[in-house]
Amino acid sequence: MTSEEQMDVETFVALLNEDLGTEYQSIIQYTNHIATITGAEFLGVIDELKLHIGQELSHAQVLAEQVSFLGGEPATIVPSVERASDSRNALKADLRLETDQLERYRQRFAQANELNLADVAEALRPLLEQTQEHVRDLRTALGD
Ligand SMILES: [Fe+2]
Ligand SMILES: [Fe+2]
Repeated sequence: MTSEEQMDVETFVALLNEDLGTEYQSIIQYTNHIATITGAEFLGVIDELKLHIGQELSHAQVLAEQVSFLGGEPATIVPSVERASDSRNALKADLRLETDQLERYRQRFAQANELNLADVAEALRPLLEQTQEHVRDLRTALGD
């Protein structure tokens, strides 16, 4: 591997670590929202969020494993989570985060393939698919 390729992998690992931080953020944000969202119209979505949170934990584990596998140190920094003013704004914040993650994982999947890391790309596939599901669930809940 040339030094130029090595630098690319390092940048890729740094981005995976940022992804890991966003998953920690998801876990905290969903924990908070599951406990605080109220209103009959949102009863169903709380069950969805409970499913999401288990998947976010597995996403964090996949990302930490891939960082470690590629020679990096998995991040332990958690981005701050803002309090939402009401239930609808809480779900909008969740949708923003999931939409951002979907874009991040699309980029990461393409970058992994560019770096000839097909195994890493495959490890990211469930994150891509499940994040798209989470975006769809939240859009449905918000009536968008
Ligand atoms: Fe996730
Ligand atoms: Fe998610």
